[in-house]
Amino acid sequence: MGVESLLLGEVRRGLRAFCLERWQSLHENYARVNMSESGVAPLSLAELEELGLKLESLRELKLGYGWTRGSPELRSRISELYNGEVKEDEVLVTAGSAEANFVAAVSLVEGGDLAAVDLPNYMQVPGLLGFLGARVLEVKRSHPSWRFPVDEAVRVIEEERPKAFFICNPNNPTATVLREREVEELGEAARRAGTVLVFDEVYWGSELSEDKPSALENAGKDVAVSVCGLSKVYGMPGLRLGWLAGKKEIVERAWAVKDYVSIAPSALSDRIASAVLTQDNVRKLRRRAREIVGRNFELFARIMGGRLLEPLPPEAGAFVWARVPWARETLSLCKRLFAEKGVLVNPGECFDAPGYLRIGLGQRMSGFAESLHVLATALETMKEQAG
Ligand SMILES: Cc1ncc(COP(=O)(O)O)c(C=O)c1O
Repeated sequence: MGVESLLLGEVRRGLRAFCLERWQSLHENYARVNMSESGVAPLSLAELEELGLKLESLRELKLGYGWTRGSPELRSRISELYNGEVKEDEVLVTAGSAEANFVAAVSLVEGGDLAAVDLPNYMQVPGLLGFLGARVLEVKRSHPSWRFPVDEAVRVIEEERPKAFFICNPNNPTATVLREREVEELGEAARRAGTVLVFDEVYWGSELSEDKPSALENAGKDVAVSVCGLSKVYGMPGLRLGWLAGKKEIVERAWAVKDYVSIAPSALSDRIASAVLTQDNVRKLRRRAREIVGRNFELFARIMGGRLLEPLPPEAGAFVWARVPWARETLSLCKRLFAEKGVLVNPGECFDAPGYLRIGLGQRMSGFAESLHVLATALETMKEQAG
């Protein structure tokens, strides 16, 4: 199978294809109706101006390497998100949260180490753990609640003492969120076992019910690190700006791995993010994300609920995890949706969960109803054909 079509095979020995990213890379710019995004609609530079960015000031910016771990201004802005729990030198700015996951995994896990992972998730970390030669303990979520099985995770931590435990919360693809008490319990178990908890919380801030602190705050910085970024809730994936926050020794080792990858964040992105990431804007953008996702899901449930799909009401994120009761195989369904109707959604197979779709809810509300209509009509036809 050629790299172009590679979704479920291996890129090279030991490195499984990153199905979700490959699926999107191959299709997203050609889709007529793109419902594959997991974040809220990206902002334009003009919209960032409304949030206080002075575009004129960028004219003077020298495009040097800048600060390889992120400028002090930006790291200080990021540390504020953690209510004083993390200091400026406990933040590493990365090229998206994808790079933060990468440097966290490579700096924490060596060949032969035991590493636990929450499944399904975005699926970057499981692929990397295999590549690193870790012995992987899978802690699986399942139908119908898809909630993280905290009791089982605590047992795994206490009995197996993994070196690191990678948890995706709020979870992609299921859009479920851990309760604060559950995160505390995980933190207590990790403290007793000497396990590092790596929370990929790139959807943190989009919780629909209430504002929540970072899992790092609930679990404690002595045992937890936080991976986050501006791509999803804040609508700036094109900046490729993420970070890793946690205790200094972990962050500094991750920085040393980053030397091998991207060296530094883009100086332009660093400058823009430093200007925009004020506490006030963070509140505004989180509110924007909740409004878009809340209203879009209402519409989604009205049009799709029960009849065509069985959606799990999202607790966060900008997507919905939905079972297709009339199709067991969803990769071929997604291929047909794209080929015949130009509609792009993500197949459950990319999360090792055939029979499900992950559908984006982050689109601007003005265009969402039309996208839903196209998707619903296409699914209706395919359901009839499936008999
Ligand atoms: C859970 C999770 N982590 C990390 C990423 C990578 O995002 P980025 O590198 O744009 O921050 C994604 C993207 O979909 C994601 O869903």
